[in-house]
Amino acid sequence: MRLKDLDTELISRAFSPAKEIEDPRLFAGRREEIEAGIRALLNRGGFLTVFGLRGVGKSSIALQLRNIAEGNRELAKTLNLERLLPRREFNFIVQYYKADSFIKDARDLFYRILFGDDGNRALFSLTDSGDKRLEEFKSVADFGGEGGIPGAKLKAQTRQEKTFRQYVSSDLIQQFRQLLGTIQKDNQKRTGLLLLIDEFDRIPDKEGFASIVKACSSDYVKFGVVGIASTVTELIRDHSSIGRQIDAVHVPLMPQDELQQILNRAEFVVSKAITFDPEAAAEIAARSEGFPFFTHLLGREAMLLAFDRGSPTVTTVDIRSLSEKISQGRLRCIYEDMYHSAVKSSAQRELLLKMFAEHSEDEINTEDVYALAGEFGITNPSQLMKQLTTPDSPDAAPVLVKVRERCFRFSDPVFKTYARLREWKL
Ligand SMILES: Nc1ncnc2c1ncn2[C@@H]1O[C@H](COP(=O)(O)OP(=O)(O)OP(=O)(O)O)[C@@H](O)[C@H]1O
Ligand SMILES: [Mg+2]
Repeated sequence: MRLKDLDTELISRAFSPAKEIEDPRLFAGRREEIEAGIRALLNRGGFLTVFGLRGVGKSSIALQLRNIAEGNRELAKTLNLERLLPRREFNFIVQYYKADSFIKDARDLFYRILFGDDGNRALFSLTDSGDKRLEEFKSVADFGGEGGIPGAKLKAQTRQEKTFRQYVSSDLIQQFRQLLGTIQKDNQKRTGLLLLIDEFDRIPDKEGFASIVKACSSDYVKFGVVGIASTVTELIRDHSSIGRQIDAVHVPLMPQDELQQILNRAEFVVSKAITFDPEAAAEIAARSEGFPFFTHLLGREAMLLAFDRGSPTVTTVDIRSLSEKISQGRLRCIYEDMYHSAVKSSAQRELLLKMFAEHSEDEINTEDVYALAGEFGITNPSQLMKQLTTPDSPDAAPVLVKVRERCFRFSDPVFKTYARLREWKL
């Protein structure tokens, strides 16, 4: 494509700072993790876990594993992992759930699995007679119809779940196992049923989950959970009671060469009408500090700047004006808003936030920071901390969370990097 045929819409589509990667052609790097994932899929009856820091690319990896489990070989081919795939192709039935604020405990989760949601069919519908049974419930749940009202779908869903609560016997596990058995019987040509649960860390009460997994996993039924954690134990505390082999896919920060590949994937989307010169690409990767989110954000903005100048190449000139844009807080993203609500109009709080952000450790000792703050004339740091740990506006998330006495960590490590990249507001 020539530069004159390019438009800003296509540039925006080449990057996805706010969305997981579904298309294998846009997925960069992560060979080891995908390899470990494929091995996990081959391990009959095993329990799959995908975990790492916030924003490192866990969901994108899980979605690629879903593709692979469904029989798509494209990514394995690109990563030269095709020899690992079974000759009789994978053709799992995959259900991919995202825990949300409606799921408070294991019970809620299993109702969601039974019932499905926007992205998943109800498990009943996977059986030959299932749709009929589901329809029975639906007619009860839809009674009094709320069609057309925004949010009604969600309400109907919670109501379905409520109705269902009365419907199933108290022995949920027994019911669930029976259903899984029927699914297997009715889908014998499939490799198995893979139930993936993303954002698993968000479920407040996970009690009982492990025993359900233990009772319901089989050579046919595989469970997998994805979430923010640095170890399997942090993700699922009672994992030893799962009684199955746990396949752990740990997702580390993304290495620089893989971050640069994200830029290559984007060049491919715009048919190379604009490309990154090596120095500019290296600069973006370095500034991203292992977080692919930043590579998407900075890559997009830099390409838009090159487009503005009518240049087919992103160069360090663009990176320089991008840095200015960031330092002046003119780069629109959620982290800019977070920065403002954290700092408000206090220069001292900004200084304190910067000190936390500059700290190299993940868990930050307040004594170190307070001592440094003292040298800069901040006399009452703990007072300033309040806005960072317990913000006054109810929908603002805390920037720092307490790990233990005198020790804090950024609730979002991507914001930590952003707060460091961004120059002073006050
Ligand atoms: N392998 C990859 N190739 C290209 N882009 C990626 C890759 N992995 C992640 N990204 C990008 O990085 C960002 C974060 O990815 P993703 O949402 O998968 O991370 P996550 O670990 O699931 O985040 P969270 O902890 O918030 O759930 C997204 O913009 C996504 O498009
Ligand atoms: Mg995710």
